Amino acid sequence: MQMLRRLPFRPSLARAAPLRRFCGPGSDLQELDPRTFLIVDVRQDKPGVLGEICELFTRSSINMTHIESRFKSFARDGPSFHIDFQGRLEDSEVQSLMKDIKVLPGVYDVSAQRPRDVPWFPLNIRELDLTIDTLDGGTALINKDHPGFNDPAYRDRRTEIVSLAKAYRHGDKLPRIQYTDKETATWQAVYERLTALHEKWACTEYREMLPQMEKYCGYAPNNIPQLGDISDFLQQRTGFTLRPISGLLSARDFLNALAFRVFYSTQYIRHHGNPFYTPEPDICHELLGHVPLFANPAFADFSQEIGLASLAASDDDVAKLASVYWFTVEFGLLREGGQVKAFGAGVLSSFGEMEWACSGAPSQECRDMGSMKDLLQPELRPLDPWEAARQEYPITTYQPVMFCADSLQDAKHKISQFCDSLTRPFFPQYDPLTQNIRVTKSVLRVPRVSTVELQQKKQQQFFKDKMAEADSTEAE
Ligand SMILES: [Fe+2]
Repeated sequence: MQMLRRLPFRPSLARAAPLRRFCGPGSDLQELDPRTFLIVDVRQDKPGVLGEICELFTRSSINMTHIESRFKSFARDGPSFHIDFQGRLEDSEVQSLMKDIKVLPGVYDVSAQRPRDVPWFPLNIRELDLTIDTLDGGTALINKDHPGFNDPAYRDRRTEIVSLAKAYRHGDKLPRIQYTDKETATWQAVYERLTALHEKWACTEYREMLPQMEKYCGYAPNNIPQLGDISDFLQQRTGFTLRPISGLLSARDFLNALAFRVFYSTQYIRHHGNPFYTPEPDICHELLGHVPLFANPAFADFSQEIGLASLAASDDDVAKLASVYWFTVEFGLLREGGQVKAFGAGVLSSFGEMEWACSGAPSQECRDMGSMKDLLQPELRPLDPWEAARQEYPITTYQPVMFCADSLQDAKHKISQFCDSLTRPFFPQYDPLTQNIRVTKSVLRVPRVSTVELQQKKQQQFFKDKMAEADSTEAE
């Protein structure tokens, strides 16, 4: 699954209903794992006060989940301690604790604070059911550039498969698709051509996994594997699961699912007229690009790390994470014994992108195909997530700039450091037993706004700004 950064304006965006009806004020967070937020003001900045406060928490058997000290503008005042802990304000032990802190000699005020508002995020894997509206509002994505645009039979088939994904809810059995002979022939053409190139240009972790996919998941030239079989296999290996999706999600919704080790996958296949081209992610991209590496622990870990960092992140940070995702999970490279190898799905699922990224000397034909007439080869930079977060990228041509890690472990380590460096609203933990997210601070999720609605507003603003720009140019 790829995320698009830009989307042409379509009137259909206006038709989709927002998801507000599903989303309460966020009290469920407090019910699940309550947190309370206190501010303790102290008179002077001197050693020992914090120790006494901590001692009272220990005696009350109340577990702190977050603490930070904030200094006032005037140096003669002591700091304020912002403390989050497990429990509810109305609990008797919490009330006693507050009274005890208040009478400590160095303390002059203790006040309970309302939870901090944060952008809505899924708290339980089941809530991913609320995040499946696609950027196009659920209409068929195919446009005039799509090879299947003028093929009504292809469009009907695509609609049929998409409707199964739309009806899917957490806990359902993953839809099994009876692929036609024509679809299987398309898969076979792609499978045979790509697997031959994987021998040369896929990273070792990917190549080691393919025989396993053939053994346990039905990967074969003459068989399109079923998401259910793959999902069961991945769950046993790394805890990742697959979920069907009908089209392109927003970056936030797509990344949020990774926090639960869930990967959204399309199930329809590209048009048979040109098996080596698709303008949108399809099952060849998902299964031959993404899926095998989700069985690798280091890859699974750093994918989830990006997902966890996206929970309740600011729009700016979501954009940075989407960019890091693009340059790693989609277009990541690494070095093996001096050779450049691919681990990104966008590279592994495209014979042209593999030659472009890994050969060191892409042919003229390859460069023409990727609209890279003026560039001999991509600029390969050592993986630096901070730089990748700021790097612009095209979505309709090959990548002029790519990032190369030393190994998957190296990518995992650097991405983890990058995620830690973001300003986080809280630090989330995923509990694989309950499939819940636990957070360190007392927060309240603001009601979710449909991604379709957000996208629509952004598009309207874009055209409003363009018109204003045109008007001001005319006035000059
Ligand atoms: Fe993708």
